[in-house]
Amino acid sequence: MSTAAPELPSIIHPAHIAAHGYPHEHWRELRANDPVHRFEDGPVPFWAVTKHADIMEVGKNPDIFLSSPRLVITPTDRSDFRPPPTIIEMDPPKHRAYRRIISSRFTPRALKKIHADIDRIAKQIVDDMLEQGGRSVDFVEQVSAPLPIAVIAWLLGVPESDWKLLFDWTNRTIGADDPEYAVDGVAGPEAAQKAIFETFQYFAALVEERKKKPKDDLISLFAHAEIDGEKLAPIDVLAYCQIIVVAGNETTRNATTGGMLAFIENQDELQRVQRNPQLLGSAIEEVLRWTSPIIHFARTASRDTVLRGRKIREGDHLALFYPSANRDEEVFDRPYAFDVGRDPNRHLAFGIGEHFCAGAHLARLELEFAFKYLLPRIDEIELTGPVERLRSNLVGGIKHLPVRYSLKPAR
Ligand code: HEM
Repeated sequence: MSTAAPELPSIIHPAHIAAHGYPHEHWRELRANDPVHRFEDGPVPFWAVTKHADIMEVGKNPDIFLSSPRLVITPTDRSDFRPPPTIIEMDPPKHRAYRRIISSRFTPRALKKIHADIDRIAKQIVDDMLEQGGRSVDFVEQVSAPLPIAVIAWLLGVPESDWKLLFDWTNRTIGADDPEYAVDGVAGPEAAQKAIFETFQYFAALVEERKKKPKDDLISLFAHAEIDGEKLAPIDVLAYCQIIVVAGNETTRNATTGGMLAFIENQDELQRVQRNPQLLGSAIEEVLRWTSPIIHFARTASRDTVLRGRKIREGDHLALFYPSANRDEEVFDRPYAFDVGRDPNRHLAFGIGEHFCAGAHLARLELEFAFKYLLPRIDEIELTGPVERLRSNLVGGIKHLPVRYSLKPAR
């Protein structure tokens, strides 16, 4: 008699997350009773790391807790599907050499150059909203999605006519487990593989152009980058372009959408920022803590070790649940309250340590500009239908957020 294949536990099951949102109640129980818990069943046995302090420890010891070969605990063991590793899956010392290539481009100082462009794009998006006032619209389509894709495409040097292509590829890569992004009925690993392949093909042509005629964009940077006097392998150049698109798009989009949902559900906090615009900075940090768009990344132990008294064996996988760390009662007062004035706010939405998000400044900037224009102008805003969530255990995505609003005219 055949038995059904074991399923991933609900705390990390894409369908469960799509149906119920983040499993905060389960994470709370794990933090209280067994913060480093072993899940044996399922296609990929793993340790669930749920406390803030433990995720810090893992993140700061990249020689023991490796990002290769498995960055995500997947619903099926995708051992047959291995896209080329990107910076996020590399370990020291290789990781540091690759990270150095982009670090100077994403500092607050370097990003000053694009303030005016982000400002212009964000302002335009909010102005466009005015025309839709009074009707039910999808906030994701209208506000959260356009800004990050425009900024990332602009930084990479992708022509505006192709931004929509990038948008579809990232949806299909991150949303591979979601039937909405299936192509010709194909979802799952094959769908992701196809999307990655198409992205690579697209970037290959642009890389060739920039090799001959460099510009001041990231594609040119990667095409000409050297490590120890050697140019990057062609596949690594493409992988670099692809990780920037994927990492920079869905995450920021979902922080914006989840942030708006938090303001709709906590209208007193919305009014608090409207009355006190100086709270915008702490409100953005609270949006990041509250939404924690990355659900988990995985690590693999390079040797036997101990974490919070649990014996981790060489080769064991660990899932770092950032949203759980961001509700940790030992670190945050009233962790389940959305508080735009929260201070201190040592959230781990961007991870910690070796792989701390390379785009953190950029993400903060995008959120700041989006909310700076939007929040003061909201007169009324309400949900007009169900929140539709992405079937993914990597990005806590909201696919559609139907809202109706009225905006005050711009001053
Ligand atoms: C709200 C938005 C964002 C969130 C929540 C977020 C979250 C994260 C997290 C949790 C990591 C750590 C990965 C790990 O521990 O293995 C990470 C890494 C990374 N992020 Fe972000 N991210 C955001 C926006 C961006 C943007 C806009 C970019 C654009 C360039 C970006 C690029 C990257 C890259 C390249 C890495 C890999 C860094 C490395 O491995 O050294 N992210 N991000």
